[in-house]
Amino acid sequence: MTVESVRPGAGATTPARELREPPLAGGGLPLLGHGWRLLRDPLAFMAQLRDHGDVVRLRLGPKTVYAVTTPALTGALALDPDYEIDGPLWESLEGLLGKEGVATANGPRHRRQRRTIQPAFRLDAIPAYGPVMEEEAHALVERWRTGATVDCTSESFRIAVRVAARCLLRGQYMDERAERLCVALATVFRGMYRRMVVPLGPLYRLPLPANREFNRALADLHLLVDEIVAERRASGQRPDDLLTALLAAKDENGEPIGEQEIHDQVVAILTPGSETVASTIMWLLQVLAEHPEHADKVRDEVESVTGSRPVAFDDVRKLGHTNNVVTEAMRLRPAVWILTRRAVTDTALGGYRIPAGADLVYSPYAIQRDARSYANNLEFDPDRWLPERVRDVPKYAMSPFSVGNRKCPSDHFSMAQLTLITAAVATAFRLEQVPGSNDTTRVGITLRPHRLLLRPVPR
Ligand code: HEM
Repeated sequence: MTVESVRPGAGATTPARELREPPLAGGGLPLLGHGWRLLRDPLAFMAQLRDHGDVVRLRLGPKTVYAVTTPALTGALALDPDYEIDGPLWESLEGLLGKEGVATANGPRHRRQRRTIQPAFRLDAIPAYGPVMEEEAHALVERWRTGATVDCTSESFRIAVRVAARCLLRGQYMDERAERLCVALATVFRGMYRRMVVPLGPLYRLPLPANREFNRALADLHLLVDEIVAERRASGQRPDDLLTALLAAKDENGEPIGEQEIHDQVVAILTPGSETVASTIMWLLQVLAEHPEHADKVRDEVESVTGSRPVAFDDVRKLGHTNNVVTEAMRLRPAVWILTRRAVTDTALGGYRIPAGADLVYSPYAIQRDARSYANNLEFDPDRWLPERVRDVPKYAMSPFSVGNRKCPSDHFSMAQLTLITAAVATAFRLEQVPGSNDTTRVGITLRPHRLLLRPVPR
């Protein structure tokens, strides 16, 4: 099936009586439905759903959720204005991270907010961030030269937060803040995931230790953002960056946007910006340790471009293989492994009836590992992204940044820093896991290794 055959709006022209109800996925329990399987082994659960149909119904407690399982239909879903950002994931996100940021807004407010943030992420804006990305990548390599065991969770968060904050908010954020953000985000995202798959609102208001820890982390996250905004205002400076654009933004009536929107916008940039990049860096480090032959190939490529000088931002576009290593790591371990939408009207997808208000869910993880889309689907093979082979990949079978009007604004920004960090680390060290390291997948709002501990051995 092509995306064209399920083009946006196709549902509206299909006579309602010809539409089918999607099949119910197997394995549900009375009352709990499929929620227990999503909690117990969500990746395996999502990965087998395509065997039941292109669209299947899931029961999460009292709710029915529609899971979309083919690349073509996930592309159609992401591109179709009949679906908006909403549903269990976004409800819990809004309640916690704010209702007025770009990641949760819809309609005219969302379009206006995208216009405000987009210039900071345009392809031609990225080279200005090069010196910071370079500096942070080389600082990381220098820190690791002692040969001490590297705790990849805190190191990955540290560099992700520092790059995002220094490039986009121009803050001189010290490690203490990156550390606070790391702790707060880890707790908040874990709690949000639980609230999404087991949507039992009152349970989360009880004064239980887990709820208290969650509330503390959330309060600190908001406090941090207030500190960042207050610091900029107090400085009286207006550098050409995203924070200045946010502080100067006007609403639909030409009035300055409110304090709450400014706050929510900074949250909406910092939270996805650090968790996703940090998780991806952890997987890249895991890949370099697990596949020394690919690490060597990256090192060879970098040296063929740089000779003996340190890798620079300007080299990134010449590092084709390194870029393919990053892409392949993101295929097998996409940081954003689950996405949701809500139907704003009675509509259709792939010949199935989707009622107004229905929640839909799909998993880039399941899509990007599907044997129907990829030969040797579970094999780590960066060469599948070579120009002569990439044609074999079905449309929308590889969209780790999503597509359509909600596509991640940061795809170029993220790919540049991920490629640079991979190049710098692989050139300087061979990486080995040490006893106590656990690189199995930890599932939360993002995917990351449970606890990756590496020894960097200088080359
Ligand atoms: C949205 C992935 C890095 C900011 C998204 C979405 C995905 C994604 C899949 C779309 C969500 C949806 O369709 O519902 C990633 C990945 C990243 C990454 C895989 C890195 C490896 C970043 C960074 C920033 C960022 C570094 C900012 C500094 C955002 C924002 C949105 C978003 C603001 C919401 C866009 C909107 O709704 O219009 N990201 N992201 N992301 N991302 Fe990223």
